[in-house]
Amino acid sequence: MRIKLLCAVMLLAVSSCAFAANFSQGPADSITMPPGNRVSQTMLAGNKLVTFRSWLDIPYVNNPVEPEYQRLNIYVPEEYFHEGGSINGYTAETAPILMPNGVGGYMPGKQFIPANDSRHGTPNVALYAISKGYVVISPAIRGRTLPNGKAPALIVDYKAAVRWVRHNKDRLPAGDTEKIISDGLSAGGALSSLLGATGNAKEYEPYLKEIGAEEERDDIFASVVYCPITNLENADMPYEWIFNGVNTYYMGPAREMDDNMKAASDALKAAFPAYLNSLNLDGYELDEDGDGTFKEYIEGLYIAAAQKALDAGENVLGLDWLEVEDGKVTGVDLEGYAVWATRMKAAPAFDSLNMKSFENNEFDDKHFTDYAFKHSTAEKPAMADAEKIYVMNPMNFIGKDGVDTAKYWRIRHGVKDRDTSLAIPAILALKLNQEGYDADVAAVWGVPHDGNYDLPELFEWLDGICK
Ligand code: DHB
Repeated sequence: MRIKLLCAVMLLAVSSCAFAANFSQGPADSITMPPGNRVSQTMLAGNKLVTFRSWLDIPYVNNPVEPEYQRLNIYVPEEYFHEGGSINGYTAETAPILMPNGVGGYMPGKQFIPANDSRHGTPNVALYAISKGYVVISPAIRGRTLPNGKAPALIVDYKAAVRWVRHNKDRLPAGDTEKIISDGLSAGGALSSLLGATGNAKEYEPYLKEIGAEEERDDIFASVVYCPITNLENADMPYEWIFNGVNTYYMGPAREMDDNMKAASDALKAAFPAYLNSLNLDGYELDEDGDGTFKEYIEGLYIAAAQKALDAGENVLGLDWLEVEDGKVTGVDLEGYAVWATRMKAAPAFDSLNMKSFENNEFDDKHFTDYAFKHSTAEKPAMADAEKIYVMNPMNFIGKDGVDTAKYWRIRHGVKDRDTSLAIPAILALKLNQEGYDADVAAVWGVPHDGNYDLPELFEWLDGICK
């Protein structure tokens, strides 16, 4: 027994040395992984003890403008350092690489660190991934409050991190660089969709060069997207398509929309059908009143969410906007839904008339839609650079020549989420599916603006596409 233990310890020491040696053998021009800051940890994930090794704070660009952020952490399950080690059918060579981002509110995002998540009472997505045999590589990412963090810094950094991973393919302790998966929620979900949609798009090249990103591919295998605050220059319209007529908003304390806001709500609602129809989504349209097959599709997503909850024994009864008969959810009234959900944001929801939303700040304190620019109440209305608006929207790249969009997508949006309209993730999914990608989209009962709350289901899906 003692001898066995000694052998195991020796093996561990030998394998650690081998990896440390490997790291310093990179080409002279590459960023090398400092072996000194490698640590080993054991954590309880559910009822399972999970041991992993970490490499922390590795710069992922050659000319960082925010060195505190342009760095990443690597987490590798301990099993992969042992001869023949495997977890969940994966080995050191085949393990997918999950790259979660910690961006929220378009703010700078720190590295996503494995931990137990007190909010959901489960391991967080990084710890859960390690327990399932995934390698986790989490980059910190610039955001709007840093001097160099405005649009499109966040997607430039995420891409640079992917490029670094590919560039160091042969020096990584484990992981399959053809199975890179992004994950994020809200602004981080928008970022995850951008990374998935824009693989190798030439528009980002100048930004990537500027920070000294490696010259590598930056396409990824799959995108995991929760409640994405995305498609920003078109998101005000579907918000009003849902919330028009609900005039109290809850950004902080309850407030009433003023006349400018109400006029914006009417105009933006009326503009939505033309936008939706301009996307030419096969079989999904709206008439000028905002009715039609696209509306039925959105209703269907809510019905499916309610049915799934009902089948799982949850109570979905007693809501005046949801029809349930004999255990079957049969209908949704979207006007009633909007009253029940409540409005979070005044119109326009993203490009604020006063030019003071998170999104205005992301675009250098400028407008990014014609409507808000024309009707601005700001002292000095200004319009963001069209090029920056373009590269912040994943919709512009799906189906575009020369772009390698991720094949697999899992998109989720809570039924109680009113940070953006369900139409936004739904449009993203319909566009992806129409262009031949595989997007699994659903609304989730009982869930507000949130992400990574359904890890067993998420990893069942991920294992299904990775194995
Ligand atoms: C986030 C939420 C918002 O409502 C928004 O407008 C932008 C970002 C977020 O939680 O990341």
